Amino acid sequence: MQSKGIATLTWGEGKSIELPIYGGALGPDVIDIRQLGKTGMFTYDPGFLATASCQSRITFIDGDIGLLYYRGYPIEQLAEHCDFMEVCYLLLNGELPSAAQRQQFVTKVQTHTMVHDQLLSFFKGFRRDAHPMAVMVGVVGALSAFYHDSLDINNAEHRATSANRLIAKVPTIAAMCYRYNMGLPFMYPQNHMSYAENFLYMMFATPCEPYKPSPVIVRAFDRILTLHADHEQNASTSTVRLAGSSGANPFACISAGIAALWGPAHGGANEAVLKQLAEIGDVSQVPAFIARVKDKNDSVRLMGFGHRVYKNMDPRAEVMRRTCHEVLNELGLHDDPLFKLAIELERIALSDSYFIEKKLYPNVDFYSGIVLRALGIPTSMFTAIFAVGRTVGWVSQWTEMIADPEYKIGRPRQLYQGQVKRDVLPIGKRG
Ligand code: CMC
Repeated sequence: MQSKGIATLTWGEGKSIELPIYGGALGPDVIDIRQLGKTGMFTYDPGFLATASCQSRITFIDGDIGLLYYRGYPIEQLAEHCDFMEVCYLLLNGELPSAAQRQQFVTKVQTHTMVHDQLLSFFKGFRRDAHPMAVMVGVVGALSAFYHDSLDINNAEHRATSANRLIAKVPTIAAMCYRYNMGLPFMYPQNHMSYAENFLYMMFATPCEPYKPSPVIVRAFDRILTLHADHEQNASTSTVRLAGSSGANPFACISAGIAALWGPAHGGANEAVLKQLAEIGDVSQVPAFIARVKDKNDSVRLMGFGHRVYKNMDPRAEVMRRTCHEVLNELGLHDDPLFKLAIELERIALSDSYFIEKKLYPNVDFYSGIVLRALGIPTSMFTAIFAVGRTVGWVSQWTEMIADPEYKIGRPRQLYQGQVKRDVLPIGKRG
């Protein structure tokens, strides 16, 4: 990287260091602090508020304006003109595919949609009421015990096969989590269907009758996957990179990403939004609920609002709101009380000084839960579906990291605030 300037850091009595500044293709410049450690000083940045942990060419976000690009393409254009398979190809390869390249890629992914038959017995070890994310963490991690032929992370062909396997198998496993939960038979993937339609098939078909979801529903589901496909260095992606930086295999890394995604501050928010809407119950209760959210002594947060990077409208939320209208119209649910409640909550929050001053806008999860619920997907599956969409982002970022000559094992430092050295006393003399 070519330095575009120098930042000088001075401290103590005459100590200083010159640090190179690098510019990105878009977005803020960064100060390269790697040499600082040699002076015995470290930077302190819990939560990575001002730290770029890597260089990447995959996704760009401008949170102040509300922009999201995958490989330079605005998310709105991708959601409108491309399907999820094209978006997967783009994230993995850097360019949108031609028709022939798309077909070749789809065929490659489809050869991996089934899971090893022995993997089915894993499900029996879980309680029927286990949360799908708990099962996903275990079963996706277990894939590394089945596909030894693609585990050499230094072999580009192995990496590509693992990527295709993960993109193909995570939806199969997610649908199996739901079917096991419900006591329904597992449905084998249908490779003549699109990625989105096949997932809906594995979720909702039965062996007793034919299943054909409406094209509007399939398109809406495909769009949900596209909107969740990548989001630069968020908590789960950074987890995948950190796990991968030690040389761990991709199945183990994606399982770590699924675990990080589960939390309500990240991917678990779509489930939390619906639970919160149900808790509020009625439009008349919105003002009292907003008062609780604003009360410093009450820990409740408005789920689906706020974002670490977006200090403007999340562009994914705009697309999701339009999709929400399309789906509710198609299903004759335009009077859906939960949707009306969400609209009212959004209206009040967007005009309230608390939210305006803190720059809290609706994020993608505010609407995705309503769409998923309208599609008949149970709340407990929402975050698992986020994981289905995000798998391609995780594997793209993992692959980029492994191929980056600057990659090193991730090893943050700390500001130690514990006890200074002391000696162990015999047990009778302690306390
Ligand atoms: N409701 C009420 N107040 C909020 C909210 C909210 N949803 N989000 C942030 N705040 C307040 C927070 O209390 C704090 O106030 P103060 O400065 O007075 O202490 C201020 O805004 C800054 O919040 P923060 O927690 O320091 O901000 P953060 O960047 O660390 O957190 C966040 C970002 C997404 C975790 C947070 O906004 C949040 O918890 N939102 C609700 C959960 C949610 O919807 N998550 C989904 C994120 S989008 C999907 C994804 O990519 O994972």
